[in-house]
Amino acid sequence: MAKLQAGYLFPEIARRRNAHIQKNPDAKVISLGIGDTTEPIPVPITSAMEEKARSLSTSEGYSGYGAEQGEKPLRAAIAKRIYSDLNIKETEIFVSDGAKCDISRLQLLFGPDVSVAVQDPSYPAYVDTSVMVGQTGGFLTNVQQYDKIGYMKCTPDNDFFPDLKSVPRKDIIYFCSPNNPTGAAASRSQLEQLVAFAKENGSIIVYDSAYAIYMSDDSPRSIYEIPGARQVAIETGSFSKYAGFTGVRLGWTVVPDELLYSDGFPVINDFNRVMCTCFNGASNIAQAGGLACLSTEGWKAMNEVVDFYKENTRILVDTFKSLGFNTFGGTNAPYVWVQFPGRNSWDVFAEILEKAHIVTTPGSGFGPAGEGFIRASAFGNRKNILEASKRLKDLFAK
Ligand code: MLT
Repeated sequence: MAKLQAGYLFPEIARRRNAHIQKNPDAKVISLGIGDTTEPIPVPITSAMEEKARSLSTSEGYSGYGAEQGEKPLRAAIAKRIYSDLNIKETEIFVSDGAKCDISRLQLLFGPDVSVAVQDPSYPAYVDTSVMVGQTGGFLTNVQQYDKIGYMKCTPDNDFFPDLKSVPRKDIIYFCSPNNPTGAAASRSQLEQLVAFAKENGSIIVYDSAYAIYMSDDSPRSIYEIPGARQVAIETGSFSKYAGFTGVRLGWTVVPDELLYSDGFPVINDFNRVMCTCFNGASNIAQAGGLACLSTEGWKAMNEVVDFYKENTRILVDTFKSLGFNTFGGTNAPYVWVQFPGRNSWDVFAEILEKAHIVTTPGSGFGPAGEGFIRASAFGNRKNILEASKRLKDLFAK
């Protein structure tokens, strides 16, 4: 724990935002910072949760502990709706309280003696939990990296996909696509390279697909679209950014039967053991909501909300492009990655907060290769997104 550099990124940003509000009590601060959903959960989904909650007050409807792996109908519905044609069995799906929590439980499973690689920049939970579990050395200030973590640089120069030839072998590879924070989605041929690389090296890929529903082009939505991925990859998914479940809490992890350690022991057996020991199953009310998300009516309603955020993303991309910034992401993810060449990310963050009262996320918070960028999240109500667009134009128009 003592090796950790600062507080977790998002609470640190909230701290700076609160300090700004204290200094400027009349400022109408808009958040394009943490990717937190703002739009109401569609009624068919909340109705199912309401009904479930009410049934808990009846003798017939009451239930206590559920299966640690999740309720069978929900596991089956995830297999059918999210992984149709990909031959994922419901028994390979573990329902949970969210992808971030599953990443911590995977770290517990892997233990301190494994080595990890992450995309740079990457979602900070992969790195910070690696430090917490004891997989890393200390923080090397000269390179802004933790010793023993493999940082796979993903920048506009390599189309946000690492040059695998220069990546040293690691046991575990965290890979998020569509990516948080850059918004880049790996193409089929890039993911084929990644799977081949993991196979060659005997590595396990932990593939974070939390933003797959935001994909607009035909890039894979799941690592299991790639032949051979079942032997090398675990995939996490989440209802948070699909259905506005950031507060409700519901996600899942897929561990295929064919994923084996080098001694032939199935990883799924260990993950099941971790889940049964460290987790008592996702909330039954949240699971009722998840099942409703995957019904025909819920799926349609949920996708309408996703489309709303996609329109927000287009507004932000257009804003930054119209101001002449090199702007990335936004097509396949609700995040826009904007370059400020030669500038320190935290300085840009501070300038936008102080002069436009807008919270963003400094790119360097996601890793050293994020220096010189900021991330704008498209989660927000339309009025705020339009107002943010106007303020950014006032601030940066030449
Ligand atoms: C983000 O802003 O990167 C996300 O909200 C973080 C998360 O999903 O935990």
